[in-house]
Amino acid sequence: MANKQELADARVLLEVEGLQKFFHLRKRRFRGTPTVVKAVDGVSFTMREGEFLGIVGESGSGKTTLGLSVLRAHAPTAGKIMLHLPEQSYDLAQLSGEELRPLRKEMQMIFQDPFSSLNPRMSILDIVSEPLRLNGINTGVEEAVRDMLVQVGLSPEIMLRYPHAFSGGQRQRIAIARALILNPRIIVADECTSALDVSVQAQILKLLEGLRRSHNVSFLFISHNLAVIEYLCDRVLVMYLGRLVETADTEVLFQTPKHPYTAALLAAVPKPDPRVRSDDKAIYDGDIPDPANPPPGCAFHPRCPHAKEICMKVVPSLREVSPGHEVSCHFADDIILEGVKIAN
Ligand SMILES: Nc1ncnc2c1ncn2[C@@H]1O[C@H](COP(=O)(O)OP(=O)(O)OP(=O)(O)O)[C@@H](O)[C@H]1O
Ligand SMILES: [Mg+2]
Repeated sequence: MANKQELADARVLLEVEGLQKFFHLRKRRFRGTPTVVKAVDGVSFTMREGEFLGIVGESGSGKTTLGLSVLRAHAPTAGKIMLHLPEQSYDLAQLSGEELRPLRKEMQMIFQDPFSSLNPRMSILDIVSEPLRLNGINTGVEEAVRDMLVQVGLSPEIMLRYPHAFSGGQRQRIAIARALILNPRIIVADECTSALDVSVQAQILKLLEGLRRSHNVSFLFISHNLAVIEYLCDRVLVMYLGRLVETADTEVLFQTPKHPYTAALLAAVPKPDPRVRSDDKAIYDGDIPDPANPPPGCAFHPRCPHAKEICMKVVPSLREVSPGHEVSCHFADDIILEGVKIAN
């Protein structure tokens, strides 16, 4: 985690406002009504320079879609994506492909699977230097790659080898080197340690922490692994069916969650001590509803043990319950939920 005061003083780099990404599916149900999946439905947040912002939520809650929309790999349906560079601000949501091109170097992505994300037919030199060449940089390429490999803990001698010669952890370091070579300001990391062994995962997390300091890069860090989120992130966004249900500083979120869904996510994490049982009932009854046909009112109400009549009718808005802590629950002030400390 970053120093709290330093982070509070850091510049706002990204300001997302009312972001929506809907997918219109060709499959038609109920007499020709087109099916719309509201994968991201009105998400707003800010990210500061050097911040690690975690995104959590069950499968299908819209985490990847949010990350891809912020990078403009998806064209958003509505909303603003303000990127504030020192010299100028841009609304990425409004820019054309051509206008986005010079800004692409500021934003990179690291994927979950380091086995399929690296082209097996390209040498490590070609893989790591590809973003440079795509941006018209052809001089000093080898030195830049050499330097970057050292920074991610790899020997520059591997440059002429091919991905098949490397383990998952080494491949993820290569992917990180490629993501960093243009000195981006934002990296979206989507489950980037999930495919790795626990010990390798720890090394990669340490590497990312170090890179945050040396490069002052901000991470949008998507993960199912709440222990990883607690270790690495300064702040967390909790998503449910395309919306934010809670956002808070990591410590606050883990110790005093205010949304029943967040509490359920935390309680469902297996405890390291086998004598302490995790609460199996905690992710309350039922699966995540069909995103093409979400429940009315609060989308979590069918699974929520605290739901009252209003929850079935009125969508709760995200409101601040204490400085920096936002919750979208009609009863956020009334119900007391127990936090769970996960990491050591
Ligand atoms: N290209 C697409 N076309 C149609 N629907 C999509 C597309 N991408 C995502 N979706 C739908 O949008 C919703 C959100 O998906 P998304 O992949 O963003 O969730 P996620 O939180 O990343 O899930 P996971 O944890 O499984 O990775 C899902 O219902 C998914 O089926
Ligand atoms: Mg995903």
